This record gives sequence, structure tokens and C-alpha cells, in this order.
Amino acid sequence: MRRPIIAGNWKMNKTPEEAAALAAALIPLVAGADCDVVICPPAVCLAAVAPVIAGTNVRLGAQNVHYEASGAYTGEISAAMLKACGVEYAIVGHSERRAYYGETDAKANLRALAALRAGIVPIICVGETLSERDAGYTDALIVYQALIATAGMTAAEVAGIVIAYEPVWAIGTGRVATDGEANDAIRAIRDGIRRTFGDAAADAVRIQYGGSMKGSNAAGLMAQPEIDGGLIGGASLKAEDFAEVVNRR
Ligand code: PGA
Repeated sequence: MRRPIIAGNWKMNKTPEEAAALAAALIPLVAGADCDVVICPPAVCLAAVAPVIAGTNVRLGAQNVHYEASGAYTGEISAAMLKACGVEYAIVGHSERRAYYGETDAKANLRALAALRAGIVPIICVGETLSERDAGYTDALIVYQALIATAGMTAAEVAGIVIAYEPVWAIGTGRVATDGEANDAIRAIRDGIRRTFGDAAADAVRIQYGGSMKGSNAAGLMAQPEIDGGLIGGASLKAEDFAEVVNRR
């Protein structure tokens, strides 16, 4: 059985002080969670949040990670720097980074490999736009994205990563994929992992759904056999809303 993982992507929201307060408010609400709980504040908030969640079941994630170890990369943050701030997970290849900052599958792969080298679990985001879905490309595209992003990993490494299936048309739009659409897409990704990395990796890798997931739809989505949790944007910005997703049952 795969243990579900619910991660909150706070995106470009919260100052360090606000982030620490949100983390503190969340802790008692998710203390009894039956899944892994991760929060991904902005990078400048990581150092403020880490001591707040220390010793609790809430884990720290970053929203991006650079692929080089150090050097002349103005504005970037390395995996080792994140690790030193207490980060255990890093989102890579989010569709907003693909849409606004030229993120590619190849770069997502480098970021994921750099995270793994530093002992950080990558949360690799894949997903189709509405026109790609309407054209019938969804499964081919998301499998391609997932396989490029995992290139060079061993089967054992793939078993330990997280993939987030996030249809672009569902992110921040209030339009959630149906339980069946999300389950089918995630099954396609898992089948692609199975063909490439084998049964053990495919059966172990956790694949989340993301896109307008909230308390009212989380239970239905997570009851699907292929869906191993969620990557939550808007509904992660209030402690009560995020806790509703975490405690969906
Ligand atoms: P949303 O964002 O929950 O606000 O749709 C999800 C995401 O971007 O990861």
C-alpha cells in the first residue's frame, strides 16, 4: 500500500512571519493525519517555517530547485542550500514555471536529479493543457513528461519520488478533473513508469492529483485506486482549508 502524500504549494504568497503563523496554525489540525503532510512555502520563508514544524508530522518542501551545485547562477537556490534549511521535498517542473519561465522537461529532469543527489524527494509535475486534452494527447504527453523527468534515475530512485498529475486547465480555475479522469491519467503515468522501470518502481511511486483540489472533492479523488494524494495550491493557504484536505475521511 502506498502512503498518501498531501502537499501544499503556497506559490508566491506569505512573508516569513505570515508563513510561520500559517504553519503553526496547521500543526494541531493535521496532527492525526494518516498521510504524509508537506508544506512548500516561498524560499525566503523556509528558514522561518523549519523551526515551527520541527518535531511535528509536517514536512518542509521547496517550490523549485536549481540543478547545479553552486556557482554563477544569479537568483537561484541549490539543493544543498534547501537541504540545509530543512527541506525534504522539492516541486520541479510546475506548469506555472513551464508557462512563465521557460521550464522544460529536460530542465525538470536535471532539477529532479539534483534534488535526489542532495537527499531531497522531487515532486515532479506533469499535465496537459485543455487544447492538448481536446486533441486526445493527454496520456501520451503526460507519460512523455514523466519519463523525460525521470531519465537517468534507477528504479529504486523512481520508487521513492513523487509525481504530481496536474492538468493545466484545472490549476487555479476551480475546474477540477473528475475522479475518473484523474484516475485514468494517473494510471497511464504509472503504466509508463512500469514499462520503463519495472513493477516495483511502478507499484511504489506515489502519484498525486493537483488542480483545484479542496476539502469537498479530496475524498472522492483520493478514493480512486491510482491517486496517492494531492498537490494543493489555493486551498493550502488557509490552515482550516488545507486540514480539510488532509483529514478528508
Ligand atoms: P490549485 O493549484 O490547487 O490552486 O489549483 C494546484 C497547483 O498549482 O499545484
